[in-house]
Amino acid sequence: MASSSLMATYNRADTAFEMGQGAWLFDTDGNKYLDLLSGIAVCGLGHSHPAVTHAIRDQAGRLLHTSNLYEIPLQTELANRLTKISGMDNVFFCNSGAEANEAAIKLARLYGHHQGINNPNIIVLDSAFHGRTMATLTATGNRKAQAGFEPLLSGFIRAPYDDIEAIKTIANNTPDVVAIFVEPIQGEGGVHVPAENYLNELRNICDANNWLLMLDEVQTGNGRTGKYFAYQHNDILPDVVTTAKGLANGFPIGACLAQGKAACILQPGTHGSTFGGNPLACAAALATVDTLLHDKLIKRAETLGNRILDGLKEQLKSANYIKDIRGKGLMIGIELSDPCTELVMLAKAKGLLINVTAGSVIRLLPPLTLSDEEADLAVDSIAKLIKVYVGDDRQGQRRTQNRDSSDRRHLNSDDS
Ligand SMILES: Cc1ncc(COP(=O)(O)O)c(C=O)c1O
Repeated sequence: MASSSLMATYNRADTAFEMGQGAWLFDTDGNKYLDLLSGIAVCGLGHSHPAVTHAIRDQAGRLLHTSNLYEIPLQTELANRLTKISGMDNVFFCNSGAEANEAAIKLARLYGHHQGINNPNIIVLDSAFHGRTMATLTATGNRKAQAGFEPLLSGFIRAPYDDIEAIKTIANNTPDVVAIFVEPIQGEGGVHVPAENYLNELRNICDANNWLLMLDEVQTGNGRTGKYFAYQHNDILPDVVTTAKGLANGFPIGACLAQGKAACILQPGTHGSTFGGNPLACAAALATVDTLLHDKLIKRAETLGNRILDGLKEQLKSANYIKDIRGKGLMIGIELSDPCTELVMLAKAKGLLINVTAGSVIRLLPPLTLSDEEADLAVDSIAKLIKVYVGDDRQGQRRTQNRDSSDRRHLNSDDS
């Protein structure tokens, strides 16, 4: 009812939040929820983080926007911070993940044209998610998302994920490839973690063929996997890396970073954005990045991730309906043997915000500021929820059957 004047692009849950504090969200009916999704990997510092709140308030009182026709010192400062963290040479700022990826795709095409390749191809992967704009939708490996939006763009070659032999075959048989574009861990596609040396092998193939290695770290970046960027687990440098989501803890911003031969491709007139990297967005991002580093939250993501993974594996170890429990840092997937999208609503009724992706993978993307107690509460609650859902917990099943909205119990720290 409330959404009738909005385009129906989302299947929204019938809940509106009016306040957030740390890992907790509070709805308009006064219910409290443990947020294990962080606005889909966005609010890594949790809700209402004082450093970000202060930075936004302070900057909003000075200057919101001037355009990229002028110097923006906060943008330069943020670029310096990100290049130092990442080992990249320079940055283009925009407003979202899809836009950051558009910049990468344009950069790769121009790189090809500079070498006399008039129809450059970019290798993209099955089950990839890169965004909803036409180029990023084409790069996305999900036919359902693409259906109805044809004609898609030319210039993309699809390969299976985590399959080095398939990439070698393309290298040996396909001319005019200029880049490979890959998520270090696939998020929307089902939290797929590739073989440990996957990125190293891709780096080698790219070097041997003069291709750009381009990584989509829109979701994996900004500390989520236990390194600032996920490629830092592999000790390699990509030519291009994109990020967005967690970069400003909820303020919209995207970034496309490049190094070496990729860093001098985009020149005046080749690309741009009116809002990209405006003073307000950069102030929010600087506060976020500095807090991630200062509070050692990236290491904390690794520790917390291991705690949650170990806890879930222990509590669900004998369950034959669990296909896999996997992840890195605070990007965690629990794959069930059957579709389980209803779990999102069942979890919400218990005061727990989770996501199910690829039909049967429960995806957890909690804030990096979670306490040990909150992490343990998350593990206990999710394990219990799954057991009740599959009917593995008789007592729990009775509870589920008897559930009615007037008897909804909401989690809080003392809920056992
Ligand atoms: C890996 C990846 N790339 C790109 C995007 C698109 O980002 P945005 O929704 O900010 O355009 C997403 C969003 O989920 C993502 O997970």
